[in-house]
Amino acid sequence: MRVLVTGAAGMLGFALRDACPRDVQFVATDLEQLDITDPASVAAVMGEHRPDAVLNAAAYTNVDGCEEHEPEALGVNGVGAGHLAAACAAAAVPLLHVSTDYVFDGRIPAPGEYSETDRTGPLSAYGRTKLAGEQAVAAAGGEHWITRTQWLYGLGGRNFVETMLALGAERPFLEVVDDQVGSPTSTHALAPILWDVLRRRPPSGVYHVTNAGSCSWFGFAREIFERAGLTVDLRPMTSDRLDRPASRPERSVLSNAKLRAAIDHAPGPWQQALDDYLERRKAVEATS
Ligand SMILES: NC(=O)c1ccc[n+]([C@@H]2O[C@H](COP(=O)([O-])OP(=O)(O)OC[C@H]3O[C@@H](n4cnc5c(N)ncnc54)[C@H](OP(=O)(O)O)[C@@H]3O)[C@@H](O)[C@H]2O)c1
Repeated sequence: MRVLVTGAAGMLGFALRDACPRDVQFVATDLEQLDITDPASVAAVMGEHRPDAVLNAAAYTNVDGCEEHEPEALGVNGVGAGHLAAACAAAAVPLLHVSTDYVFDGRIPAPGEYSETDRTGPLSAYGRTKLAGEQAVAAAGGEHWITRTQWLYGLGGRNFVETMLALGAERPFLEVVDDQVGSPTSTHALAPILWDVLRRRPPSGVYHVTNAGSCSWFGFAREIFERAGLTVDLRPMTSDRLDRPASRPERSVLSNAKLRAAIDHAPGPWQQALDDYLERRKAVEATS
């Protein structure tokens, strides 16, 4: 099977390549080879590679930046996803598209979890543009899987774990937001599931894919330091004190029940995935 991956130079792209099954030919593209905002470029690259499936990991992912640059973000996350979906539908090739929990407003009361059929209500420009992408992918009419994930970290990208480890080493104390709850998800846990979805081809639609369990960013930071063996004076804070341009959902835990029913498994507990990531970065450090 030949799979064309967009945004392959990004953080998820790194893990997708790392977890790529042996019988899959990984056709890596990023902005330089395929700008998904350009329909002519999409058509040309599809014609050149004639993939058996497309995996869209390309996105405008600067959540705060989207507030000021919503048209550009929509061009990539919404319209660009639509160009890919149209080209895939025309070629009768399935599309796996990656989306986000930020399509929800995060007002689900604890201990609730969002299911795929729950009403969306993005709070931010990023969430609106990603929702537009989901709608464009579904509207194109081809075989598709929209996989919503959240709080990603992994090798090959800037992420919360790396930020915490760097700040923890240089600051006398750290304040971390304690009023947003989600499921930290390792790209190294997500990527094998995405490959499995492509292989198993469940019915078209939306699927939630995250590591299991949930915590606040503060809880995540505490676990990072504990597992990394670092003593840090960690203090909880509220998100209004951060004063970031984009609002984030307060509680956006995603139920993976539909995924589990479709492919018989789902990513494991987030703490296990964090251990695995810390091991992976140790191995990288040892060889560099
Ligand atoms: N990171 C998270 O916490 C998170 C959470 C939920 C969902 N997601 C979703 O997961 C997917 C992968 O995210 P990620 O964290 O791997 O993001 P990432 O590291 O920012 O990777 C995205 C890649 O897409 C490229 N790109 C941007 N515009 C493009 C265009 N017009 N055409 C082709 N490529 C383009 C980027 O290039 P440049 O770097 O040069 O712009 C980058 O290499 C995205 O759909 C994202 O919305 C991420």
